[in-house]
Amino acid sequence: MSALSFSSGLAWLGVLTAVVFAIQAIQTVSISLRPSKLRRYLHTSPDGRPPWVLVTGASDGIGKALSNELAASGFNVVLHGRNRTKLLNVQSELSQAHPARSFRLLIADATQCQPEVFKDIADQLSDLHLTGLVNNVGGGGSGTLFATLDHYTAQNTTEIVNLNALFPTLLVGTLLPTLVQNSPALLMSTGSITDAGVPLVSAYSASKGYLKTLAESLAREVKMAGWDIEVLHLRVGMVTGVAGNKRKPSMFMPRAPVFAKAVLARVGCGSPVVIPYWGHALQTVPLGFMPSWLEDMLIEYSMRDINSVFSSTPAASHEAAKTK
Ligand SMILES: NC(=O)c1ccc[n+]([C@@H]2O[C@H](COP(=O)([O-])OP(=O)(O)OC[C@H]3O[C@@H](n4cnc5c(N)ncnc54)[C@H](OP(=O)(O)O)[C@@H]3O)[C@@H](O)[C@H]2O)c1
Repeated sequence: MSALSFSSGLAWLGVLTAVVFAIQAIQTVSISLRPSKLRRYLHTSPDGRPPWVLVTGASDGIGKALSNELAASGFNVVLHGRNRTKLLNVQSELSQAHPARSFRLLIADATQCQPEVFKDIADQLSDLHLTGLVNNVGGGGSGTLFATLDHYTAQNTTEIVNLNALFPTLLVGTLLPTLVQNSPALLMSTGSITDAGVPLVSAYSASKGYLKTLAESLAREVKMAGWDIEVLHLRVGMVTGVAGNKRKPSMFMPRAPVFAKAVLARVGCGSPVVIPYWGHALQTVPLGFMPSWLEDMLIEYSMRDINSVFSSTPAASHEAAKTK
């Protein structure tokens, strides 16, 4: 290849990259500019019952902030969590802030996924005109999170997968008939940009990937069935003001209340999967057109601080023993 054709090839590659970047930026901006359609789901039942939304993991962080924003928008909220005292405090705080709204508690450990748990939830909510479900509960469970998978106990892995994937799936299955009956209805889930396959949080990352695929399947299923249900899965970057992170907010790390406003503004955006906060969207744009080796490097680099755990994992000890 001559030097001339090599440099014109490079120029074309640059133009192509710039075009892809511009298209992604326009898509991100246009999604952000669409007005929210949240009010579509704020309707009373034919017998005059007011609208309710169930928010899972509402005793802290993003779930609490979303509950507050939903109440400010006119919804009554079922606050789900596992800790009654914490939930009672949130209920009292939200009741004071929104005296015209009602709040109800739903207590269930989301690492427990036996059929009777979901039968009980359906029974507890059967008198409500539920027009929304926000599957927000999730996280790292009670054990190790930042480690290679061999470092996890079976219980640890089961908890993470149940919390982030199985519990939300079974809850959707349980409440879908209610949402169909009360439609138009909203079905939201809180995922993570770690669904891209991030090391050292593999069970969590994979569970969030599962949740994203579930939303994409459900969005198509709902369309095929002709149901008026909006499926909206949120890909979330770092958010502060949550139980495990009280750091100062930044451009790429909003506080939970700021993030919750961005989430509700995205309702009706027309896509089943969205990165609701602009700073998180900006962070992920380069990944869309990067070669996979560069993407690997970037993801591994972003987890560099956690690398120290490698030395203490069973697989690492095994490798060390082999090389001695
Ligand atoms: N914050 C971030 O940077 C970030 C980034 C990406 C994705 N996300 C996702 O956003 C969602 C909310 O996270 P967050 O940051 O707001 O976390 P958080 O402040 O720890 O809140 C998590 C909520 O889930 C509840 N919960 C946890 N384990 C539970 C269990 N076994 N049974 C019932 N409830 C349980 C917590 O209850 P307790 O109050 O009793 O603990 C709390 O209400 C999660 O799905 C998380 O994966 C967060």
